[in-house]
Amino acid sequence: MKKHEAIVSPESSQNGLLGMQDKERGAQLRSVYGHTRRTGSWEASGRPAATRPRRGETSGCEHLSDPVLRPSSSIWTDSIYFDYNATTPIDPAVRAAMLPFHDQEFGNASSFYSLGRRAATAVTEARERVAQLLNTTSSEIIFTSCATESIVTAFLSALEAAPDKRHLITSNVEHSATLELCRYYESRGYKITYLPVDRDGNLSLEQLKQSITPSTALISLLWANNETGVIFPVEKVAAIAVEQGVPLHLDAVQAVGKILIDLQALPVSYLSLSGHKIYAPKGIGALYVHRHASYTPLLRGSQEGTRRGGTENVANIVGFGHAAMIATEKLSSEWPRLAALRDRFETNLLQQLSGVHFNGNLSSRLPNTSSLTFDGIDAASALFLFDEKRFCCSAGSACNTQSRSPSHVLSAMGRSLEEARATLRFSIGRFTTEAEVDQALEIISGVVGKLRKLN
Ligand SMILES: Cc1ncc(COP(=O)(O)O)c(C=O)c1O
Repeated sequence: MKKHEAIVSPESSQNGLLGMQDKERGAQLRSVYGHTRRTGSWEASGRPAATRPRRGETSGCEHLSDPVLRPSSSIWTDSIYFDYNATTPIDPAVRAAMLPFHDQEFGNASSFYSLGRRAATAVTEARERVAQLLNTTSSEIIFTSCATESIVTAFLSALEAAPDKRHLITSNVEHSATLELCRYYESRGYKITYLPVDRDGNLSLEQLKQSITPSTALISLLWANNETGVIFPVEKVAAIAVEQGVPLHLDAVQAVGKILIDLQALPVSYLSLSGHKIYAPKGIGALYVHRHASYTPLLRGSQEGTRRGGTENVANIVGFGHAAMIATEKLSSEWPRLAALRDRFETNLLQQLSGVHFNGNLSSRLPNTSSLTFDGIDAASALFLFDEKRFCCSAGSACNTQSRSPSHVLSAMGRSLEEARATLRFSIGRFTTEAEVDQALEIISGVVGKLRKLN
């Protein structure tokens, strides 16, 4: 129950996701449309309104005892969830694989006795599964707490290895995990080149080449953009990095599990990934470090072969490994399924609504992501009305939703403040169904229509 309460917490909707200005706008919208907000309070049924079953489910918590785990989105949430780039639900099979390590298999992976050795074996197996997803060797995988930690560790490793080199190259559409880190290094006297992108979010390889100097210590770039889904030409980027002898770190958080990653064929020094984008829990990530790349631990200790201190989070590591195994198995079938659902979504949306514009290079993007600008709407107001209908998507990135500043990605792509504030990101995933796409279309058309009338 707590999990559900957290999802629908009135505080998170009213104070967190929406700022003061938006609350006022919300009140205005409510008075216009007569919406009543969920209170989240306990009612006569003994369950908060938001946790009561809908759409054919029974209680929403059957998966806790039901031996037949149904991989349907309605098991996990009573919402129509179009925000898989923010986080994914845990795959029921991943959850099942993790459970013993929360219960009887609670051993410390460093302990000598068999309880501990079984935990160590499970960690080894998970490492192999993550390595397999990337087509690399397990000795090159280090488990971390999240991709943010992986990114910090990659930077630390490259910079410690070349203390005289004080220049870094990144792009200005990176995730905040990278941008905040670059700003930190800037404050420590490093020179940072933030490569621009064009209107479609494409990187200029020529500019990348030109910005490399003898003091460049690291190039760090996204593989796929979390807001627009645009895929950078990482093979060409890697070729330039190799030619110039500069270590390359790729933030592959949104690419992993969605597109093929073959590290035997792609020469990168470091690559970051995160569990909660591939149907594993939050709080687990990994860093790939090429066997010849320099490495400096961020956390010192004996674990992870002295490469990352701290008692292993065995259950989460097992979950990550299992999620990686499923992703490997499903990779070839999941891309076409998601692309077909996304096309159904986009085609029908464009038929139902005028004044809708795509953001990002349509010929090089993730199969699950649609970034769309809707003329004449305010995305924050749309989110508020979507929430009333239990439809989840994002305005820009999840991290930006709390602030009213425009998405740095859309600004970098030359969108005006007004355009950025009229942009919504829809990201679908493994448990999205055709029926949900159709329901989403109905909700979006209704809400956009209402907001346009209001303007
Ligand atoms: C592209 C990208 N990089 C990095 C991160 C940070 O990942 P984590 O939450 O595991 O720290 C995210 C998460 O949203 C992301 O989308």
